[in-house]
Amino acid sequence: MSAQLAIITGASSGLGQTFAQHLAQQGWDLFLTGRRTKRLQSIQTQLKQKHGIQVHIQCANLLKAKELQDLIDKISQLQRIDMLINNAGFGNRNDFYKASYNEQNQMLQVHITAAARIIHEVVPKMKHRKKGAIINVSSLCAYMPAPLSYFYCSSKAFLVSLSECMHIDLQKHNISVQALCPGFIETEFHSRMGLITARSWLEQKLLWMKENDVVSISLRHLSSNKVICIPGFINKFIYHSVLFLPKCLYYKISAIQSNKLKTSHLIA
Ligand SMILES: NC(=O)c1ccc[n+]([C@@H]2O[C@H](COP(=O)([O-])OP(=O)(O)OC[C@H]3O[C@@H](n4cnc5c(N)ncnc54)[C@H](OP(=O)(O)O)[C@@H]3O)[C@@H](O)[C@H]2O)c1
Repeated sequence: MSAQLAIITGASSGLGQTFAQHLAQQGWDLFLTGRRTKRLQSIQTQLKQKHGIQVHIQCANLLKAKELQDLIDKISQLQRIDMLINNAGFGNRNDFYKASYNEQNQMLQVHITAAARIIHEVVPKMKHRKKGAIINVSSLCAYMPAPLSYFYCSSKAFLVSLSECMHIDLQKHNISVQALCPGFIETEFHSRMGLITARSWLEQKLLWMKENDVVSISLRHLSSNKVICIPGFINKFIYHSVLFLPKCLYYKISAIQSNKLKTSHLIA
């Protein structure tokens, strides 16, 4: 019997690369995508050599219609797809009204349009085989609207809602769906936004998680029937506190916090 196959977007670094490593260790074949060709090639070589699995890479900028279409065409040729991890994403620290709309819109294209397009291609194959798993990488920000992150928070909230709709619809087809909602993770995410994330020992211990821990929790969580996965005790505590807090109080706290953070503007 051939190995199971997982498609991972944003596999050239961070969480996506770590998902690839964990699944490779479990003997999965992989279909990896991202923009940075050299990085993907090096991950491909490393995983093939170490685990003897098949690793296909397809470089694609999800912002470019032609490259997204080429990616979809490649996916449509795959015989079987057992897992899809919609992970590609980025942060943006620009004031919504100061950056051009085109620049802001790129986030919707990567987080929403591309993710939905790939789901649309993959799910019919999973339904046909009556088996599959989808992880949509959202964020704790989905539950924490913030004034400097209009499209980050709202696009991540879209992914949570989409995952819940999919779960309700697809559970009868034996397809698991997860919205992964991490807090801060130690990846290139923040440095790529040009943020220096100086933190105290306590902040580091309490708020920041390692990619490996997030990925282990997410994959373990898939077998449960819960759609929303909030990794880490502190993140769960924050999530429940925000849900419990009266909205008007949350808005006040968020406005004060964001004024304090305007210079560093950390988002998760
Ligand atoms: N780090 C955190 O604190 C944190 C917290 C909560 C949620 N998240 C979410 O976790 C996911 C992974 O982020 P990360 O922390 O692992 O950061 P990362 O190391 O910067 O990884 C982001 C990945 O997305 C890919 N990507 C970005 N824009 C793309 C585009 N236009 N086309 C194709 N691929 C693109 C990047 O690949 P290329 O550059 O090669 O294209 C890279 O592989 C994101 O969705 C992020 O929102 C992160």
